[in-house]
Amino acid sequence: MKIDQEKVLEALSYVIEPDLKKDIVTLGLVSNIATHSNKLKFDVKVSNPALHSRKRVEEACILQVRRFLGEGFDIEPNVVPLPKSNERPPEQRSVLRGVKHIIAVASGKGGVGKSTVTANLAAGLAAQGYKVGLVDADIYGPSAPMMFDVMTEKPGVEEIDGKQLMTPVQSYGVKILSIGFFADINQAIVWRGPMASKALNQMFTDVHWGELDYLFIDLPPGTGDIHLTLVQAAPLSAAVIVSTPQPVALADARKGVAMFGLPSINVPVLGIVENMAWFTPEELPENKYYIFGKNGAAGLAEELKVPLLGQVPIVQSIREAGDAGRPAVLQENTSQSEILKQLCQNVAKGMTTLQPKPVGQAS
Ligand SMILES: Nc1ncnc2c1ncn2[C@@H]1O[C@H](COP(=O)(O)OP(=O)(O)OP(=O)(O)O)[C@@H](O)[C@H]1O
Ligand SMILES: [Mg+2]
Repeated sequence: MKIDQEKVLEALSYVIEPDLKKDIVTLGLVSNIATHSNKLKFDVKVSNPALHSRKRVEEACILQVRRFLGEGFDIEPNVVPLPKSNERPPEQRSVLRGVKHIIAVASGKGGVGKSTVTANLAAGLAAQGYKVGLVDADIYGPSAPMMFDVMTEKPGVEEIDGKQLMTPVQSYGVKILSIGFFADINQAIVWRGPMASKALNQMFTDVHWGELDYLFIDLPPGTGDIHLTLVQAAPLSAAVIVSTPQPVALADARKGVAMFGLPSINVPVLGIVENMAWFTPEELPENKYYIFGKNGAAGLAEELKVPLLGQVPIVQSIREAGDAGRPAVLQENTSQSEILKQLCQNVAKGMTTLQPKPVGQAS
């Protein structure tokens, strides 16, 4: 029996994926169309792994193929669940479909400059013309409102397709949402894992992010249970690990890299940023003092075979820029702004070689 593959694809293009609300051919969910004697077989991937949902898609496929190709042969669709959300290309995700790259910035140890690096990556890439968003998921000490000078602002509300969605706050071209916008700055909140992951999930599902090239997620310090919960809540494309060169920070950075490699998470580490790599007094720009040790994070990157994305010195104006609410990467022609711009470029370049695997392409 000979069956025209094009005709099968045309028929299947009338089957709509129930969660993703587009047809299964456009979404690249159909593959391995083959005929054996009297049988037509093909694979279809679906977002919802539940049996009833797979059954619905299977029935719809059979119905449409019959409609286009008639009776006279058996149709056996093999309907299987799609891989985890973070392993899918954007159009096959059920959330954040307009976002090309979702990048978590993590460190094991606190205070190593994670939020500073995230703020500079976001503002720097926005200044280079990319569409950028930032989720400040630091439930212990949100810092994006201060680093972007939007402490008194609140997200708006917009109705889209009959659904009330939040609109992020904008600063320096970056769309920002922070746990800090929802809590009184003087009030300590004790978040438990499920609450934290629910709050983070809402930042994806209930927010109008629109089209973005990069969405950065500034995670709280650490690698405990709460981080696992947070990291699993997000369909991450990659992770950036920030560390200072000192041994205690490196030990924690190593745990950070290991966390993203866990089978239940399995997010590629784009690279390590060595922050506070040396101290340079502003009046002596050629001098370097290796306060926290020399090349510690660079050595860790080499050992773990992950790229070193950049080495950022301790410069007083990086700290001042953070406190003043204007990331240092936006300074004109200072040595630190050049280093930070280069870091942005390395991240952008790294992401182009970390494209999501093509899943379920029709063959
Ligand atoms: N390269 C740098 N030069 C000077 N100061 C810096 C640099 N990086 C970070 N800082 C300062 O160090 C402090 C801690 O940085 P930051 O808040 O970014 O760290 P963090 O890892 O996000 O901390 P936390 O674990 O509390 O979230 C801030 O005051 C920041 O301005
Ligand atoms: Mg922080």
